Amino acid sequence: MHVFVTGATGWIGSAAVDELLAAGHHVVGLARTAQSAEALRAKGATALRGDLDDLASLRAGARTADAVVHLANKHDWGDPEETDRAERAAVQAMLETLEGTDRPFLIANGLSGLVEGRAAVETDPSPAVGPGSDRGGSENLSLDYADRGVRTMAVRFAPSVHGRGDWGFVNWLVAAARKRGVSGYVGDGTDAWSAVHRGDAARLIRLGLEEAPAGSRLHAVAEESIPTHTIAEAIGETLGLPVQSVDPDETDEHFGVVGRFFGRTMTGSSDLTRSTVGWQPVGPGLVADIRSGAYTDGIDR
Ligand SMILES: NC(=O)c1ccc[n+]([C@@H]2O[C@H](COP(=O)([O-])OP(=O)(O)OC[C@H]3O[C@@H](n4cnc5c(N)ncnc54)[C@H](OP(=O)(O)O)[C@@H]3O)[C@@H](O)[C@H]2O)c1
Repeated sequence: MHVFVTGATGWIGSAAVDELLAAGHHVVGLARTAQSAEALRAKGATALRGDLDDLASLRAGARTADAVVHLANKHDWGDPEETDRAERAAVQAMLETLEGTDRPFLIANGLSGLVEGRAAVETDPSPAVGPGSDRGGSENLSLDYADRGVRTMAVRFAPSVHGRGDWGFVNWLVAAARKRGVSGYVGDGTDAWSAVHRGDAARLIRLGLEEAPAGSRLHAVAEESIPTHTIAEAIGETLGLPVQSVDPDETDEHFGVVGRFFGRTMTGSSDLTRSTVGWQPVGPGLVADIRSGAYTDGIDR
């Protein structure tokens, strides 16, 4: 397949591009800079210059592809409304282009806010509906197009898609621990996160494109529930720092942006995902990754 990938130079996207190329697919990656375009060409993909705000570039990418993987996100933590607005507008533009073609469209989401008090399952619909809701309600917008001739699927990634070089949440926790001189967890540390290794997440993206029925929700979850104090202990041990509870009222000050998420349970099961597309994660797990030194270099991005 010719696959158009947005976010092709991101943490998950760059692994997804490698996975798709290795499986014999052709990749056209959206690139907003000359540097990103060059990085894509160097690995054998084609670059399409564009931006999430340049809807014509997204329509052009979708029009000429057999499949679309949408992973780009502004992640502007200071302006979440703008991030969500841009997400919805971009997704709408690509879906309108694909309408009636029966081609696959894969959208990224997370596990945050899906359910309370238990692990989310794939049959739990996202409560975010319409513009103004979390991520612009883009998961539901996409899945609605299953009835309009697009083989849509949502991949909900665990809050830690981990591995060496990760610049996401766990890297921020490590940076906060270094800055504060303690590895913190929020409250009693019984909140929990799911996790998945980046390579396993990339393979699920490929399998989803190749296999998933229209309207699927897939969970990129290898480990269902890791208590946040266990994550903090692994970080503390690796950095040689004490491990300490942080008062829930002081999470922003202690952790920065990632504190909003570390004091929350974000867990999901992936039983249905595994049986639907034959996905079997092979790890390593998050704690093993932290202990092996995957986060000790500290990425500043
Ligand atoms: N990583 C996780 O643990 C995790 C967990 C849950 C959900 N997710 C979701 O999974 C998706 C991929 O995440 P990720 O970790 O790979 O994110 P990432 O590393 O931050 O990559 C984001 C990608 O979006 C691109 N991008 C940003 N602003 C753009 C714009 N204005 N126009 C075009 N492209 C733009 C970036 O391009 P440049 O390379 O040019 O900067 C980059 O390729 C996102 O939707 C994210 O929210 C990730």
